[in-house]
Amino acid sequence: MNDVQAAERDQGIAMRERMAMYTDNALKIGLFGSNCSSGRAVTLISDRWSGNWEDNLALAQMADSAGLEFILPVGRWKGYGGDTDYMGTSLETITWATGLLAHTKRLIAFGTVHAPLFHPIIAAKQMVTADQISEGRFGLNIVVGWNEDEFQMFGVTQREHDARYDYAQDWIDAVKTAWTAPDDVDFDGQFVKLKKIRAKPKPFGGTRPLIMNAGASDVGRAFAIRNCDAFFTQASRRSMEETAERVKAAKADAKSQGRELDVYTVGVVTCRRTKKEAEEYYRYAMIENGDWSAVDGILVKKNISPATVGQEEFLAQRQHYINGMGGLLMVGDPDQIADTLANLSRAGVRGVGFSFINYLNELPFFCDEVLPRLERMGIRAKRKS
Ligand SMILES: Cc1cc2nc3c(=O)[nH]c(=O)nc-3n(C[C@H](O)[C@H](O)[C@H](O)COP(=O)(O)O)c2cc1C
Repeated sequence: MNDVQAAERDQGIAMRERMAMYTDNALKIGLFGSNCSSGRAVTLISDRWSGNWEDNLALAQMADSAGLEFILPVGRWKGYGGDTDYMGTSLETITWATGLLAHTKRLIAFGTVHAPLFHPIIAAKQMVTADQISEGRFGLNIVVGWNEDEFQMFGVTQREHDARYDYAQDWIDAVKTAWTAPDDVDFDGQFVKLKKIRAKPKPFGGTRPLIMNAGASDVGRAFAIRNCDAFFTQASRRSMEETAERVKAAKADAKSQGRELDVYTVGVVTCRRTKKEAEEYYRYAMIENGDWSAVDGILVKKNISPATVGQEEFLAQRQHYINGMGGLLMVGDPDQIADTLANLSRAGVRGVGFSFINYLNELPFFCDEVLPRLERMGIRAKRKS
C-alpha cells in the first residue's frame, strides 16, 4: 500500500467514525431546535423553552454527559409571530455550535446553514474553526430556505424551488473545495465563481465535517443523497414498515452512486411516568395552550389553507404544525417511548433528533428512564462516564 492509498484508507476510517458520531450505539440520539425560543413547541405555557444561551449550554452539557450524540439547531432569522412570536429569539447556529463545542467533550454540534445567505468561503472557514476547536465534532446541516420574509430581510431574492438546490450544489462544491484543495485553485460553478482560493487550516484530522440535509421534495432528496452523509426524512405516521421502506430506498439510491448514507428522522417527545400523565401534559401544553395564532401564521407562509389543501387536510396540518413543523409524535411512558425508538432503529433509522416542550426540565427523566431501557434492548451501549 503506497502513501496515498494509506491516506485514503485513514480518511475512510476517520469519515466512518464521524458518521458513527464516535459511538457504537446502533441508534444515535440528538436534540433538535433548542437554539430558538419555544424550541419546536408552539405553546403559550410559561414553562415553554427560553432558547437563551444559559439554558442551551446547560442542556448541551447534560446531553454530553448522558452520552447523547448530537445537538441540531434550527436556522431561523425571524419569529413566526402569534402571541409568543414563536422562534422570535434565535441564536445563530454556527456561533452557537462553536460555543457549545468549546464547552463539551463528545457531543456533535451542527450548524444549520442557509446556502444562499452565507458566502461559501466565509462559511467554510467558520465551520473549519468550529471543527478545529472541537477536534472534529462540528456537523453541517445545509438548508436552502423557504421563508420569503426572512430572505427579504437580507435583500436576497429566493430562487424558484428546484433552482435553490442547483445553487446549493455549487455552494457545497465550493465549500468542499475550500476544505480540501491546495492553494490558489479556482472554482468555476454555474453560480459561484471564485479565483485562487486559499483556505487554511483544513478541517480537523484530514477529513471533513459530517454533512446532513433534510430535503423532502424529489429534488431535495436527490441533493441529500448526492452530497450528504446523513439524510433526515420524516418517519411514516402510518407504519414502521413504510419507514423501513423509505430508509432502504434512500440507502439503495446512495449505494447506486457509490455513496454511504445514514438515514435519520425527527420526533417530538413527551415522556412521563405514566401514559396518562404524558397525555395530560401534552394536551395541556400543546392543545389547550397551543399558540394557535402562530401556527396559523406558519400555515399562511406555507400556503396551506382550506382552499389550497381542503378542509380535512388543513385541520390535520394545523395539528401537525403545533409541534413546530412536525416529526414523529411520541407521547407516553418510558416503555412506550423506548419501544418506538427501538422500532425506528429496527427499521434501519440511524438516529433520531427530537425536541421536548422544555428540554432542560424533561431530559433528565428521559436519560434516567428511557436510555437504560434502550441499553437493555441492545439499541444503545452502556454509557461511559
Ligand atoms: C430535521 C430538519 C431540520 C430542518 N432545518 C431547517 C432549518 O433550520 N431551516 C430551514 O429553513 N429549513 C429547515 N428544514 C427544511 C428542509 O431543509 C427542507 O427544506 C424541507 O424538508 C422541505 O424540503 P424541500 O426543500 O426538498 O422542499 C429542516 C427540515 C428537517 C426535517
